[in-house]
Amino acid sequence: MIDTSGLSKTFKGGVEAVSAVDLSVRPGEIVGFLGPNGAGKTTTMRMLTTLLRPTAGTATVAGHDLVAEQRQVRRRIGYVAQGSGLPPVSPVKGELELQGMLYGLSRRAVAARIDDVLGRLELTGLETQIPVALSGGQRRRFDIAFALLHDPVLLFLDEPTTGLDPQSRANLWEHVRALRDGRGMTVFLTTHYLDEADALCDRVLIIDHGRIVAEGAPAELKTGGRTLDDVFLDLTGRSPREQGTPTGKGA
Ligand SMILES: Nc1ncnc2c1ncn2[C@@H]1O[C@H](COP(=O)(O)OP(=O)(O)OP(=O)(O)O)[C@@H](O)[C@H]1O
Ligand SMILES: [Mg+2]
Repeated sequence: MIDTSGLSKTFKGGVEAVSAVDLSVRPGEIVGFLGPNGAGKTTTMRMLTTLLRPTAGTATVAGHDLVAEQRQVRRRIGYVAQGSGLPPVSPVKGELELQGMLYGLSRRAVAARIDDVLGRLELTGLETQIPVALSGGQRRRFDIAFALLHDPVLLFLDEPTTGLDPQSRANLWEHVRALRDGRGMTVFLTTHYLDEADALCDRVLIIDHGRIVAEGAPAELKTGGRTLDDVFLDLTGRSPREQGTPTGKGA
């Protein structure tokens, strides 16, 4: 579903945000992309979602070449950006309808897609609300509903649970898992909550200073009785507990 070779991004001014990343994600996997603030997670995601052009390397995403077949890639992926959110006072339903129209769906198809995504995310009945009247967890689920409206096969979520209380985080992860189990969705997400990544990801990748420093199923990485937090600290020299304040860069 994702295959990259030497994927790199050097920003103007010489910041090498992502350096020669090779990664692959299989269909139906939930993969956690972990790393300290500034490690290159969002930059990698923005490349994989066609929003940033790589400065080197190649990638295939959802069966299409990332650069040569941008449009096809965009049709097949959904993306919830770091810190994204709905306009605070527009009724959600109108926003969803607009989104469906932007994707060129008929009125009838839009209505069917809205019913489907709201049902999957347990939001049915809430679409007449304005976002400020919703809880933080509900708003994040609406962000995901937007990203799913055109029925993608691959979903990118950049810090979907940052700032949520533990119960809402657990609930959101359950929904992510249900999308995979019920719909076969492939999910590539970032998080600073490593206990959640441990519990819910089939595989995690750890990136630091733009390079992948570890990769594997959580159980494979947690050698010698360590937790994923310990592994992260050993590899990056930084505690994941210091993280979690989104920089919002690229969001
Ligand atoms: N548009 C940009 N121009 C220049 N440098 C950038 C730009 N966007 C990001 N960077 C730099 O690239 C590096 C990686 O940033 P990125 O946002 O990918 O990190 P991140 O892993 O998502 O961090 P966080 O956990 O804080 O969200 C950082 O050094 C950042 O300052
Ligand atoms: Mg980021």
